[in-house]
Amino acid sequence: RETRRTDYRPPAFLVDTVALRFELDPQATVVRSRLTLRRNPQGDATAPLRLDGEALVLLGLRLDGKALGANRYALETDGSLVLPDLPDACVLEVETRIAPEANTELSGLYTSGGAFFTQCEAEGFRRITYFPDRPDVMARYTTTVVADRARCPVLLSNGNRTDAGTLPDGRHFATWVDPHPKPSYLFALVAGDLLAVRDSFTTRSGRQVALAIWVRRGDETSCDHAMQSLKQSMAWDERVFGLEYDLDEFNIAAVSDFNMGAMENKGLNVFNTKYVLARPETATDADYDGIQRVIAHEYFHNWTGNRVTCRDWFQLSLKEGLTVFRDQQFGADMGSAAVKRIVDVRRLRAAQFPEDDGPLAHPVRPDSYLAIDNFYTPTVYEKGAEICRMLYRMLGPDRFRRGMDTYIGRHDNQAVTIEDFVRAISDGGGMDLTLFMRWYSQAGTPELTISETHDPATGRWTLTLRQFTRPTPGQAEKQPLPIPIAMGLLGQDGTELPTRLAGETEARPGTRMLLLTEAEQDFVFEDLPAPPVPSLLRGFSAPVRLGGISRERLRFLATHDTDPFVRWDAGQHYATALMLELIAGRAHDAEPDEGLVAAMASLLEGADADPEFAAEALALPSESYVADQMKVVDPEAIHAVRQLLRRGLGRRLAARFRATYERLTDTGPYRIDGRASGQRALRNTCLAYLALAGQDGIALAKAQFDAARNMTDALAALVVLAATNTPERDDALAAFHARWRGDELVLDKWFSIQATSPRPQTVEDVRRLYRHPDFDLRNPNRVRALVGAFSAGNQVRFHDASGAGYRFLADTVIALDPMNGQIASRLINPLGMWRRQDAARGALMRAELERVLATPKLSRLTFEKASKALA
Ligand code: ARG
Ligand code: ZN
Repeated sequence: RETRRTDYRPPAFLVDTVALRFELDPQATVVRSRLTLRRNPQGDATAPLRLDGEALVLLGLRLDGKALGANRYALETDGSLVLPDLPDACVLEVETRIAPEANTELSGLYTSGGAFFTQCEAEGFRRITYFPDRPDVMARYTTTVVADRARCPVLLSNGNRTDAGTLPDGRHFATWVDPHPKPSYLFALVAGDLLAVRDSFTTRSGRQVALAIWVRRGDETSCDHAMQSLKQSMAWDERVFGLEYDLDEFNIAAVSDFNMGAMENKGLNVFNTKYVLARPETATDADYDGIQRVIAHEYFHNWTGNRVTCRDWFQLSLKEGLTVFRDQQFGADMGSAAVKRIVDVRRLRAAQFPEDDGPLAHPVRPDSYLAIDNFYTPTVYEKGAEICRMLYRMLGPDRFRRGMDTYIGRHDNQAVTIEDFVRAISDGGGMDLTLFMRWYSQAGTPELTISETHDPATGRWTLTLRQFTRPTPGQAEKQPLPIPIAMGLLGQDGTELPTRLAGETEARPGTRMLLLTEAEQDFVFEDLPAPPVPSLLRGFSAPVRLGGISRERLRFLATHDTDPFVRWDAGQHYATALMLELIAGRAHDAEPDEGLVAAMASLLEGADADPEFAAEALALPSESYVADQMKVVDPEAIHAVRQLLRRGLGRRLAARFRATYERLTDTGPYRIDGRASGQRALRNTCLAYLALAGQDGIALAKAQFDAARNMTDALAALVVLAATNTPERDDALAAFHARWRGDELVLDKWFSIQATSPRPQTVEDVRRLYRHPDFDLRNPNRVRALVGAFSAGNQVRFHDASGAGYRFLADTVIALDPMNGQIASRLINPLGMWRRQDAARGALMRAELERVLATPKLSRLTFEKASKALA
């Protein structure tokens, strides 16, 4: 049963208020809900009330105070409860029983480490009580939580706490009132033996907000970075978007069993511990960044998502794309904007571009789904953010801000659509964006090619831009999209030239914007006696592939361009082109290309100016990025060529890598600012090259591992060692396990490092680790750390020609699906890419997908993924 976007109908009934009462018990929690209902004047006047439900035991129903007989309602096979013949305004009381401890799906109310947590987005609230579980039903919630005081000293829900006390039977309770109307997916409840790390924030208009991060005993020393990130986010949203927090409390609760990163429940965010807890000894610089990013993301949802929410789940990118864009902008302001852009584009290319090329390609606003949880995708999130960024770049910061003000002002407390968003940006920003809507409806990554002609007699230089988007499943015909291209022109000596388009009276300095709207379009530039070198897509101004640039020009741009993104990108394209050539020629013993050696040498030379950038630019494109550029992927050749190139570079530049490595040895106290973490990144990049270059690299890694006082350095060394067949490897892994076996997040790293090792025996290692006593199929972080890391992060070993990697993944999916369909279905993605592999691998992958599909009682989630992958 597919849900289609065009089938949207307004709800027949609205809910004005919800009063909830939870009597918490791990096996049998009783939930009482009291709904004040009103027929929707915009809805079907005769339709019955339909309440969604899933995995609930119905204990009782009362209408306006009177018990309802069985003839007054029907329980349908899909779990929903249908009540015909209701008055236009009424009060419905519903009593249900649920079993949080048996809830392995981690959707709805469940337990983790003895405490209670909820996750309701997208459709988890229906696993708590019968309710119109759709985002366009916004209600005011009052929640009373009753529990045993010893087991659950802390009782949290959305909003502000208004009451608390002890019941005659000795249990205690707390009552929470959320004054803001919200959809059910933003409901939250947390109860258990948790500790608070507290702080406060005063908003611009003087509201005192009590901040608290709730964690298990022992974790309270690991919350400083999360708290600091929260306060930075609150200040940033005031400063940049004029948006203030709107409650007296802001709570974050951390849980170690969680299906995703975090959740923006109103006033009570629930976070995967991975995105809260950090100490220098346990968290890497990347972990610190992740925490800052996710804390900001969830906080920013308070306005883009909560105050203004989605009418239906097809509009998911309305909140997710916009909020990712906002968290990216925040990240750029907190550190190096150039490096932040590089990191974000790398993520987009690694996850979203392949999705656009695969069987699950879908528009940023999908047209249909079987399971909405399958659509929390890089396309909805990251490509959605790129769309917002294009709007931002076309309008500029001030007009974009006016558009946002219009959006929030017009739609506060409403559930709206992507059209509403684009219209508000268009009205407030003053730009016609009609054509722009195509970005939301058309799947696929546009491919951009260019050609140039120059007339020395007139000084006229013509740039021809062409765009083309390949067909995707269900969308054979593609239309041209409006593509903003930030660009500049360089002279042959590398200086930035002013630009004047034909028809303009004055030349402009620096970067300018071209808007490509046709399949092919000419842009004529004047005053150019010699042909310039165009620098295109500065800052990656549009999510497109730009191909066909000559190696020579890439080298020129990598050295001379004024835009750091283009410099980095040109270098990456240059290295990719080189690798593809080596793969095609199978020239496995070639010396590294002199151009690349020289470029890397000069990067090392100038590294002190921006070590973080240098680390990014010195890293070769990943194996999966190279794979993404090939019609038929050859995972072994890609791995071999990349290793060859890295080893060659390591040897040729050994002295420089060594000198940089030594120079950056940090003896001072650990700091996490961009400079310090950039230096660590650069130093660890050098280490990786040195390790490939010869034996003493291993000794260096071993020494670094033993001496490391922070997780970034320890882990970088361990990654190097784990790739080898040495006694150092086994010792280091054993020591790491012995030291960290009590810390789940660090133990996750121990699993991941082994799962991503390029050693040929990794498939067997992974099977062995699956049976390790510390492996737990019910814990999503652990599953991602082992199975996800292996299948999505170890291309060469996952695609082992024997098919053993595929079989392992399918086995895991089949074992996991009955427990947690969301995690099972998310794991399956790598098998869907079978069309890109050679015939033999493709057949093995398909066979595993078919085996998954033949499993009895498969979840709707996994069924949708596997069947679409085979279609
Ligand atoms: N809204 C949450 C976030 O920021 C994610 C919720 C994911 N839900 C799901 N069912 N996959 O971004
Ligand atoms: Zn989000």
